[in-house]
Amino acid sequence: MPAAAGATITILKPDDWHLHLRDGAALAAVLPHTAERFARAIVMPNLKPPVTTVAEAEAYRGRIIAALPPHLTFEPLMTIYLTGSTTPDEIRRARQSGFVHAVKLYPAGATTNSEAGVGALASIYPILEAMQEVDLPLLVHGEVTDARVDVFDRERVFLETELTAIVAKFPALRVVFEHITTREAADFVESARPGVAATITAHHLLMNRNDMFTGGIRPHHYCLPVLKREQHRQRLVEAATSGNARFFVGTDSAPHAKHTKENACGCAGMYTAFAATELYAEVFDAADALDKLQGFMSEFGPRFYGLPVNTAKVMLKKERIAVPADFAFGDERIVPLRAGENLEWQLVR
Ligand code: NCD
Ligand code: ZN
Repeated sequence: MPAAAGATITILKPDDWHLHLRDGAALAAVLPHTAERFARAIVMPNLKPPVTTVAEAEAYRGRIIAALPPHLTFEPLMTIYLTGSTTPDEIRRARQSGFVHAVKLYPAGATTNSEAGVGALASIYPILEAMQEVDLPLLVHGEVTDARVDVFDRERVFLETELTAIVAKFPALRVVFEHITTREAADFVESARPGVAATITAHHLLMNRNDMFTGGIRPHHYCLPVLKREQHRQRLVEAATSGNARFFVGTDSAPHAKHTKENACGCAGMYTAFAATELYAEVFDAADALDKLQGFMSEFGPRFYGLPVNTAKVMLKKERIAVPADFAFGDERIVPLRAGENLEWQLVR
């Protein structure tokens, strides 16, 4: 049975294992939302231009820390963006840095600011070799970019044509199949060799592809990988609430200004950081699995990354609260998920 109204749950403070923070005024606008709820986050490197070197990651890390309000503590876990020019030396520097925790692979053109991504994956095998050697995890945006492949099939086809090969060819490489959206991806990760994990977003646990078209086209429900059929959503909920440590939180909160979403060619990405823990609590509550929330949110990610679990705690309360129509986003506005609707859980401050 779902929890009663007014029920509370206290869990160890979570970390977000996939987050877009942007830069400048946008960074300053969204960072407090994450830092209130998460102790650490794996920060995506898809700035314009992308963060491709350890030196750039260090500078970006400095800007994130400088943007943090003094009353909050937060540790950005940096990533570098794999390109055709990444060198094995850069990988070794990344490992030695202590602040770069993973390397991000975007197939070229897969999503926002991924023009610099990798074309033929075999060309980066020497880099994957170096990553395997120094034990630096690979984070994969797992979608093919071939325009002939149906957009709803791109994750499954990537899994079949690329990911299976990478996982087999580099048996000791730690791999995160990011923001999985399909039954096939969940099945793959569940039965893969050790060292393979997946992150799951709140929005892919809460919505299916009908939510992009309720009553008209819904640009704020467009993200990549795109929402899938209900049967896939159900499989993701099953995986997330199973207690299997291979599945953990990664919000993929991806802020875009309102006018760039409400546009003839709207950007991909949903803004969930403002209530991410609350949204996951709603999913786990609806699945009658609140006892599995702490593992997914706070324990399995650190375990995969070899980092200590947080000691601080957060409390959530089941109490309906309205979501604002938008938030300030530098000189612009940003529309959060559920704008003008409700959340079922609140963060107790
Ligand atoms: C992300 C973004 O906007 O940076 N968008 C998204 O829909 N998830 C890019 C990404 O991670 O794919
Ligand atoms: Zn992302």
